[in-house]
Amino acid sequence: MHQIKRASSSVAIAACLLLAAAGSVRQANSQAAGPQLDYQTFKEKVEPVFLKKREGHTRCVVCHTVNNAPFHLVPLSPGAATWNEEQSRQNFQLVQKVAVPGYEDSRILKHPLAEEAGGDPHHGGAQQFGSQNDPDWQTLKAWVMGAK
Ligand code: HEC
Repeated sequence: MHQIKRASSSVAIAACLLLAAAGSVRQANSQAAGPQLDYQTFKEKVEPVFLKKREGHTRCVVCHTVNNAPFHLVPLSPGAATWNEEQSRQNFQLVQKVAVPGYEDSRILKHPLAEEAGGDPHHGGAQQFGSQNDPDWQTLKAWVMGAK
């Protein structure tokens, strides 16, 4: 009787260990995945930031479809006010050169932001966001940090 009881409790312990191991593997996996850049958010919220005219500034789309900066966007089709699905998918790939998921210092966040607000000292396209409170800058940041 004593023997049997011992055996079954060690089975129970083994089962617990297995479950715990499985749990920590799952957790490790989701941690490794970390924040992800969301395509729908990019298309619906981020692309409009690139298209918007800011007082005293040229629109991002005007320069970044033609210059050789590391940040490149697909040119708009003639007469189009925005990108189509295929172009947006391409933009989503291209922008990943300057947007590192979960990384607040991503180029896309630092470069067009005013230096006194924590941005870079010089951008050929000027300091388009005067403060981190700018709603468009916040849209960019939320997306980089993985918002859906
Ligand atoms: C008047 C043209 C112009 C406009 C408008 C413009 N940019 Fe730029 N941008 C440049 C040039 C030129 C460079 C490359 C030289 C430099 O780093 O300034 C650049 C570089 C960049 C880079 C790459 C930085 C790096 O070194 O990795 C990012 C990111 C960027 N711009 C974001 C933006 C965003 C976002 C907007 C709109 C809010 C914007 N730019 C508007 C001209 C422009």
